Amino acid sequence: MIVITTPTGQIGRQLLDNVLGSEKAIRVIARDPSRLSPRVRERVEIVRGSTDDLDVVNEAFAGADTVFWLVPPNPRAESIPGHILDFVRPMCDAINNQGVKRVVGVSSLGRGTAKNAGQISAIFAMDHLVESTGVSYRSLCPPGFMENMLWQIAPIKSQGLFFSPVSGERKVPICATRDIAAVAADLLLDDSWSGQDSVPIHGPEDLSHNDMAEIMSAVLRRPIRFQQVPAEAYKATLTQQGMTEAWAQGIVDMATAVDQGIYNAEPRTPQSTSPTSFRRWCEEVLKPAVLG
Ligand SMILES: NC(=O)c1ccc[n+]([C@@H]2O[C@H](COP(=O)([O-])OP(=O)(O)OC[C@H]3O[C@@H](n4cnc5c(N)ncnc54)[C@H](OP(=O)(O)O)[C@@H]3O)[C@@H](O)[C@H]2O)c1
Repeated sequence: MIVITTPTGQIGRQLLDNVLGSEKAIRVIARDPSRLSPRVRERVEIVRGSTDDLDVVNEAFAGADTVFWLVPPNPRAESIPGHILDFVRPMCDAINNQGVKRVVGVSSLGRGTAKNAGQISAIFAMDHLVESTGVSYRSLCPPGFMENMLWQIAPIKSQGLFFSPVSGERKVPICATRDIAAVAADLLLDDSWSGQDSVPIHGPEDLSHNDMAEIMSAVLRRPIRFQQVPAEAYKATLTQQGMTEAWAQGIVDMATAVDQGIYNAEPRTPQSTSPTSFRRWCEEVLKPAVLG
């Protein structure tokens, strides 16, 4: 039995697609099962509820060999580490209670070098807590997601612009969530691994925001420009959109850490290179979203 949390999220949804055709018994935890497709609802067992509820995760993890989880972002959180630990503690208690053998979790690149890196630093507290249980664990370590560009669909459409406090020249790895889902699926379907390890997922190439603007211009057949914005102005926009002061500060701290090279510390290897290029992602995901 494998258990998949966040089955309606970007990674969880694609992960489910990858494992539905397998022979494995699959259980998901969903707050609102009507958000799952009919195909998924027919194939999997569903535990309804929130993954920060100990009763829910105890029920969901009973008889499970392997569990996939990530901590959903919460832009309304008053404390980033508080949100992450409140979320992960019940799941750690449940893996002990139910004797789960393996956990696959989504963390981040940058472990070992992160200092004051906002949400990136906080997510490593999840890794520490999971590892302290002694469960066999694979911590998936991606850089920023290509999908983050979808947050800027409005200015891309209306002004041909996207923004960030990170410099236009800083080249960093970037990966598509489909590639994270593929790595997670392989681990969920493989009963042979044990021990605790990190799995970096680097995407196929390092790109700067200016490189991304060039690729987006070519794919969308119109000029797209990157504009760097001061951290304080960026943070003010985020809080105006409803984020707490703490969550917005975390995003700004993350951007500073990225500009200082947090994603460049761990070298790319053939194993960590994932297939989806930014150009292909723009063709298959960004372009339909912009045109839609
Ligand atoms: N964005 C990046 O660049 C980046 C980089 C590295 C790592 N990460 C990590 O990636 C993760 C985000 O993954 P994602 O993009 O796949 O997430 P996502 O698309 O935002 O999905 C979040 C999921 O969590 C579910 N959810 C929210 N609150 C819940 C609750 N209380 N109980 C149960 N389910 C709940 C939502 O389902 P419903 O709303 O349907 O209930 C949804 O399925 C984060 O942990 C982040 O730290 C992100």
